[in-house]
Amino acid sequence: LKIEYFENINNTDFKDPKEQEKLQKEIDKLRQQGLAKEHPVVIDGKEYYTEDKIVSTNPGKKDEVIGYASKADKELAEKALIKATETFESWKKVAPRDRAEYLFRTAELMQERRHEFSALLILEAGKNYEEADAEVSEAIDFMNFYARSMIQLEDDTHYLKRVPGEKNHLKYIPLGVGFIVPPWNFPLAITTGLTVSAVVTGNTVLLKPASYTPLIAYKFFELINEAGLPKGVINFITGDSKEFGDFITGHRLTRFISFTGSKDVGLRINEIAGRTAEGQIWIKRVNAEMGGKDGIVIDETADLDKAAQSIITSGFTFQGQKCSAGSRVIVVEEVYDELLDKVIEIAKKLSVGNGEENHDVGPVIHEKAYNEILDYIEIGKQEAALKLGGDTPSEEGYYINPTIFGDVDPNSRIMQEEIFGPVIAFAKAKDWEEGIEIYNNTDYGLTGGFFSSKQDRLDAAVERMHCGNLYLNRDITGALVGVHPFGGFNLSGTDSKAGSYEYLKLFSQGKTYTQAD
Ligand code: ALA
Repeated sequence: LKIEYFENINNTDFKDPKEQEKLQKEIDKLRQQGLAKEHPVVIDGKEYYTEDKIVSTNPGKKDEVIGYASKADKELAEKALIKATETFESWKKVAPRDRAEYLFRTAELMQERRHEFSALLILEAGKNYEEADAEVSEAIDFMNFYARSMIQLEDDTHYLKRVPGEKNHLKYIPLGVGFIVPPWNFPLAITTGLTVSAVVTGNTVLLKPASYTPLIAYKFFELINEAGLPKGVINFITGDSKEFGDFITGHRLTRFISFTGSKDVGLRINEIAGRTAEGQIWIKRVNAEMGGKDGIVIDETADLDKAAQSIITSGFTFQGQKCSAGSRVIVVEEVYDELLDKVIEIAKKLSVGNGEENHDVGPVIHEKAYNEILDYIEIGKQEAALKLGGDTPSEEGYYINPTIFGDVDPNSRIMQEEIFGPVIAFAKAKDWEEGIEIYNNTDYGLTGGFFSSKQDRLDAAVERMHCGNLYLNRDITGALVGVHPFGGFNLSGTDSKAGSYEYLKLFSQGKTYTQAD
């Protein structure tokens, strides 16, 4: 069970109409079974149905309610923290290999029911078939990969130098109770990744799902319980971060926080976690993966057709709502017009519509996001030249047409601020070196791309482009677990490198022990 033998699970091939039908059937089944069910907060296996509820709706059909999630208040959240602290005492003693087994089992169950998970992702998050399916694969990969990593981490002694007269060991033990705060844009994959990495290393957690997508998180929670995970290891507390987010982050019993989401919230968590509460006997750890203002640089020797397709994929899949999305395109002036025309040609052909009909571009997540993106489009119209889109095709859901701005000043707001929507800004550079300088002109540093046919320039890009995930001559989204460890620099976060072996050490503390002969 070594990690080098880990294999990424295959995505479904939706060119096969039978697979499309299977997924469609799961969507129909969800509706037949009746949506709009109530979901509880779950603490130590006990369910709490609260009066105050989150209403989860379909972003593609905004009047359709997908379900209700109970909202924990401060009191319930603290109860969860106390229970998780108690459960930690037993869970930390479970052998790493046994902890890993729960992940393997959950991964197996999820693979058997992958279309069920995709169906809910489509209805709750507005993903299309490929995006939903790839997300299920990523969730499965996280479980299989971290389970194997844990087995390997159990004995990490091999590199220690031997000295005569004693035996030395290094083992990794858990930290305590973690506060897990995943985002809505990968509400299954990142929720799974953040949760199982903490749990497999022997910690117990409070899982607070994103409020736009609580039901898919609940479905994962149900599945891992079905796989036999002892109650109280994961405590499921949906609710408003305003109600208990700061409280749990600042609480003396919280040992670490795993967060993926916006820069503002990440920085706030970091600040609150940095204070030492009365009675707190540790320094809290914060793993925060935040935003991106990711760019792709294209030089005059690049394969422009390939670059154009990658710009579309990187900028518009899941409506640009990825921290990895390519929202800035920086092109050497010699080929700027030609490339922009190619991108516009492809973008014009993208179909916009509901994820359940598998359109290329679906709805954005929610009204608030929709309005914010449209505000940025207005700002773009003042700052630059609107080349495509900028409008909305239908009121049925939160749809925004793929939007492209040209002649954008590198210091303008739409080149500097994360929009998190289907908006791409094109800027000109006089040569590839200036292109890299423009790329680096950002507070973020998550993903980046460079297209060129010259190896020396690609090598220079590796040296000079300051980002956690750099892609040469390919798309800049879609990091694979175990293949492209993922995490960014500067205000993109703590560079935690999700999907790497090292990742598990973030939720563990190394204990060295030495025995004399
Ligand atoms: N990990 C996701 C990607 O690479 C965000 O696109």
